[in-house]
Amino acid sequence: MAEKNVAIVGATGAVGQELLSILAERKFPLKSLRLLASARSAGKKIRFEGEDLVIEELRHDSFSGVDLVLSSAGGSISKEFMPSAVKAGAVVVDNTSYFRMNPEVPLVVPEVNPQDIKKHKGIIANPNCSTIIMLLPLFPIYKAFGVERIHATTYQAASGAGALAMEELRLESIALAEGKPFQRSVIPFQYAFNLFPHNAPYNDGSEAKAAVHAPLGYCEEEWKMVAETHKIFGDEKLPVNATCVRVPVLRAHSEALNIRLSKKASVEEIYEVLLGAPGVQVLEEPSKNRWAMPIDASGKDPVLVGRVRTDLSQENTFDMWVVGDQIRKGAALNAIQIAELL
Ligand SMILES: NC(=O)c1ccc[n+]([C@@H]2O[C@H](COP(=O)([O-])OP(=O)(O)OC[C@H]3O[C@@H](n4cnc5c(N)ncnc54)[C@H](OP(=O)(O)O)[C@@H]3O)[C@@H](O)[C@H]2O)c1
Repeated sequence: MAEKNVAIVGATGAVGQELLSILAERKFPLKSLRLLASARSAGKKIRFEGEDLVIEELRHDSFSGVDLVLSSAGGSISKEFMPSAVKAGAVVVDNTSYFRMNPEVPLVVPEVNPQDIKKHKGIIANPNCSTIIMLLPLFPIYKAFGVERIHATTYQAASGAGALAMEELRLESIALAEGKPFQRSVIPFQYAFNLFPHNAPYNDGSEAKAAVHAPLGYCEEEWKMVAETHKIFGDEKLPVNATCVRVPVLRAHSEALNIRLSKKASVEEIYEVLLGAPGVQVLEEPSKNRWAMPIDASGKDPVLVGRVRTDLSQENTFDMWVVGDQIRKGAALNAIQIAELL
């Protein structure tokens, strides 16, 4: 692979920091690396491969000479700045939701639809983290048996809301454990020792919510899992539904999937498919009632699966448990795999 001039937009964030670690781990062929963030971080230094790299403020002219931009500073930043990156001749792999449903922009999980990368016109979108984690085990099952319907319930970690949310959960947990009051500024509700349905924008049917893409009664996070699955599979008709929940876990999302298959299958046949699935690892010790947990997935590449069992209430329907580090496979790793394929 020829060496590339790379820029990370949002280099100080949860995803940005993980991008840096993975570039180093995978020995991505770098000619140069530019770190971009807000004016708040400009001038600070980040150590990378034994060198101190100075963070620069993101500007429209930040991309001169850059081949590849890995962007994760939020949708509004991508909307404003990524067209300038493309104009300067760079290819952008964007972690935000801004371009995901744009028909001109491929939405790619390398284990599922790597062929779509070729259709890019300068920008490739990285899917939502919960969607990626669901699709890694779902896709080989979909190919082997066909899927008639899927319902996912998520148990999402603080890391999905960024570095500041992780820090707030940590500090709130300490304060509440010590019986002290705590002033929240990132997460809207008590998060330590609690959980709540996902706080992404919710469609309550009011005119003010007309800009929310989710159908009535759903939040954006739930709708992303539906719409993005359709786009990535190229199957608009696949019935998908989701309930998304934030749980007070620092890092790595868990999901309970309920999948009705088109062809008859057994639990053993599903395990056989999962054992050969790229990016997936079966992790469980049923005799000890021990199943994959967020602490098993944290900082790791594979999406962990297990607890496959028949749904007692419906024919040819199966439940399974899935856990994945959504900063890694759900964001930074997926983006770098796309860059490697490019
Ligand atoms: N966390 C996840 O698991 C995950 C997964 C998939 C996708 N994503 C998406 O990735 C994006 C970043 O998420 P994150 O969790 O890494 O958030 P984060 O930890 O809050 O980091 C945000 C980053 O954006 C930078 N930024 C903010 N305002 C900026 C501006 N005006 N100009 C330039 N840079 C600016 C911040 O720089 P400063 O430090 O200078 O403020 C920081 O580097 C979001 O769109 C998110 O939806 C996140």
